[in-house]
Amino acid sequence: MKNTWRFGEAEFNYIREVLDSGFGSGTSGGMNNRFEVAFAEKVGAKWAVTFNSGTSTLHAALHALGVGYGDEVIMPALTVISNLSVTLAQNAIPVFADINENTFNIDPDDIERKITPRTKAIQVVPIYGLPCQYDRISEIAKKHDLPIINDAAQAFGAKYKGRSITETCSITSYSLENSKHITTGDGGIIVTDSEEYAARMRKFGSLGYAAMTSGDGRIRLNRKVFQDPNYKRHDDLGLNYRMPEVAAAVGLAQTERMDFFLKTRLDTANLYDEVVKDVAYLTPQLVPDDCESSYWCYSLRYLHDEISWQDFSDKYVEFGGDGVYAAWALTYHETLISSGAWKRHCPPLYQDLEYENGLCPIAERVQPTIMQLVNNYGSLEEAQPKVEALHKTIQYFG
Ligand SMILES: Cc1ncc(COP(=O)(O)O)c(C=O)c1O
Repeated sequence: MKNTWRFGEAEFNYIREVLDSGFGSGTSGGMNNRFEVAFAEKVGAKWAVTFNSGTSTLHAALHALGVGYGDEVIMPALTVISNLSVTLAQNAIPVFADINENTFNIDPDDIERKITPRTKAIQVVPIYGLPCQYDRISEIAKKHDLPIINDAAQAFGAKYKGRSITETCSITSYSLENSKHITTGDGGIIVTDSEEYAARMRKFGSLGYAAMTSGDGRIRLNRKVFQDPNYKRHDDLGLNYRMPEVAAAVGLAQTERMDFFLKTRLDTANLYDEVVKDVAYLTPQLVPDDCESSYWCYSLRYLHDEISWQDFSDKYVEFGGDGVYAAWALTYHETLISSGAWKRHCPPLYQDLEYENGLCPIAERVQPTIMQLVNNYGSLEEAQPKVEALHKTIQYFG
C-alpha cells in the first residue's frame, strides 16, 4: 500500500534539488544547513547540527561538554540504551536515577541524591513525549554547576510551562529514526544556544575539521589555503556521524510539516484518553498541568489483577489493534550490563562497579506494567479502528 501522508511533494522536490546539484563536495552541506536553520527556528534554539542518528547526537553532546574518563553521567533507569552506550563510549560512569511512578520521567529528587563530586552531566529524557520537570532539574543543575542534556528523541514540539523544552537545557537532542514525529529514515539533530557547544558538536560529527563553526559545515572555506601542502585540517576529534544531503532534504520538508504530525498524534491520544478514562486498571501516563506532551506513543500502566499483560495485548491485536509495545527493560537490567560485557569497554574503571537489583525501585515496579500503543497515524480516520479495538478489548475483559 502506498504511504500517502508521511512524505509529500516537498520531500520529493528537495531531494530532486540535491540530486540535481550533483552533490558537489560531500561536506559542503547546503541542504543540511537549510534543514538546521529551519529546525533551530522551529524549536526556538540558536544552533542546530544534523547527525546520522539520535545516538550520535548524544555522543557529540557528551564530547562537547568534555565528559571523559571516570566522569559520572546521571540518566534515568528507564530509557533507550543509547544514553548508556554513549556514556560508555566516553569511558564515563553511568549513574541511574529513579523515575516518577505516574509520569515515568526521571525523578529530580533522585537526580540530586545521585550527584557526587565526579558528576559531569545529567541526561534527562522526556519519555514518550512528556516534558520532564525542567524547572526543578535546572535548579539542581545550577546549584551543582552541571549541564543538562535533554534527550528529546520522542518529544518534538513538547512544551513545558507553555515554552519550548529546549529552553532550560544546555543541549537538546532529537532522533529522526522512522518512528519519530518527523523522520529522515534514520538521522538525528541536536540544538543548543551555545555557539561553543555547537561548533564542538559539528566538528565531532564530521572529522574534527578546523574550519568548521557553529553554523557552517563547510571545510574548504578558502580553497587556496586548504590545498596548501602545509595546511593542517583537523584540530579536534571527529567520528564522521554526518547526515547525508538526501536525508537532510527529507528533514527540511518534514520540519515544514511538523505541526501536522504533532496535531495528528495529539488528536489520536485524545481518542485513546476517552476510551480508557473510566477503566481502573488502565492508568495513562500522567500529564502534569504545566506540560504539553507530544505523545510519541500513547502509554499507560496495565494493572489488571487477573488478566495478564500478554493476554490483553493478544486480544487487542485480535480485535484489529496494532501491537502493544512493552517498555524497554531498565538499562541496568540489560544483558550488556548483567553479563558484565560492558566492562570490556574500560576494564580498569569498570572492573569493580556493579548495578544491583533494587537500585531504582519505582522504575523496577513500573516498567513491567507499561503498555505503549501506536500513535503514529496519518489521520483520525486511520486511528479510529485501532482505538475502537482497544474499546472492544476493554469491553471483552470487563
Ligand atoms: C529517547 C531516545 N533517545 C535516543 C534514541 C536513539 O535514537 P536513534 O535510534 O536515532 O539512534 C531513541 C530511539 O530511537 C530514543 O527513543
